[in-house]
Amino acid sequence: MKRVLKWLGWGLCGLLGLVLATAAAAWLHSERALNQTYAIDDPPLTRSTDPAVLARGEHLYQTRGCGACHGGEGEGSVVMDAGPVLRAVAPNLTPARLDPAYDVDALAAAVRHGVRADQRGLIFMPAATWSELGDEDMAALASYILALPPHANDPGQTEVRPLGRLLNMVGAFPLLSAATLDHQPRQRETPAPSPTPAYGAYLAAFCADCHGSDMRGGKQFGPDMPVAANLTMHPDGLGNWSEADFNRALRQGQRPDGSQLHPIMPWRATARMSDLELEALWRYLGSLPPLADAK
Ligand code: HEC
Ligand code: HEC
Repeated sequence: MKRVLKWLGWGLCGLLGLVLATAAAAWLHSERALNQTYAIDDPPLTRSTDPAVLARGEHLYQTRGCGACHGGEGEGSVVMDAGPVLRAVAPNLTPARLDPAYDVDALAAAVRHGVRADQRGLIFMPAATWSELGDEDMAALASYILALPPHANDPGQTEVRPLGRLLNMVGAFPLLSAATLDHQPRQRETPAPSPTPAYGAYLAAFCADCHGSDMRGGKQFGPDMPVAANLTMHPDGLGNWSEADFNRALRQGQRPDGSQLHPIMPWRATARMSDLELEALWRYLGSLPPLADAK
């Protein structure tokens, strides 16, 4: 009996040691990733105070999803509180709280590279979505953010919790978009708005994060979340939709049968897109190969 207890004791010690070692490894692994720095050296952008440019910036802010996480007035919000995994907080972007080190170029590094003002990677900020945002549009968006009126809201801080660190170590939980993006300095063209498939492709970079770059859908953000829909013109997708059905989904969040889309589909953002932008998106989707749902 004594012997069994002794072995059990050693066994438990071993197990505890293993747990501690795994936790330490996960901690070190994620600390290294979180402290890695990225030097961004894109050609400098120019801040503008021209009302037309600021209006363009506001339109981009509201229609490309920034407002969905950072709030309609830039006041910030808790995007996700997943207990032991992660607490993701989209910071307050107004001058009341934004680090004054953010100028137009530092904001561009945050949006297009997922890199914060101190050069470390931003956590959970989906920068891949906007990595191709044109320089002129990026300058307008950044100028708009720098002109936001101060808002006192304090949404708190992003925290990567133990399970998140463990999942990150085994590669199951990418934390930093900066780790996978191309940081090679380059200029990015801003295409002129026109109701064409080419302009639709530029806009659809925002949809691709969820619906996939082939627009076939299939991604699911959590067990209780709907799967991102197939947007190609296959019968599994929008093959039987009219352009009016599409506009209703993007403006009112409703399917053709009147049922409501889940709020993970950012229709409150797409609702503010112009007629021209919706037409460009519709034409772009129409130009893609129709694909059946992935099985
Ligand atoms: C899915 C939610 C989400 C969306 C959409 C989003 N962000 Fe973020 N953003 C975050 C999170 C979370 C952080 C904080 C990451 C951290 O603390 O490491 C962040 C950080 C930032 C920062 C750095 C702020 C700071 O204090 O260091 C800027 C700037 C920023 N976002 C701008 C934008 C802009 C502009 C857009 C739209 C083009 C946008 N974000 C869209 C979630 C989001
Ligand atoms: C943050 C993720 C996300 C982004 C970004 C996003 N969508 Fe969605 N979308 C979804 C999800 C998830 C659904 C399924 C919603 C449901 O079933 O309630 C959906 C549904 C749709 C539907 C309804 C399709 C159907 O068959 O019911 C359309 C249309 C649509 N999205 C178009 C777009 C377009 C166009 C864009 C870009 C301008 C876009 N979405 C951006 C996640 C997203």
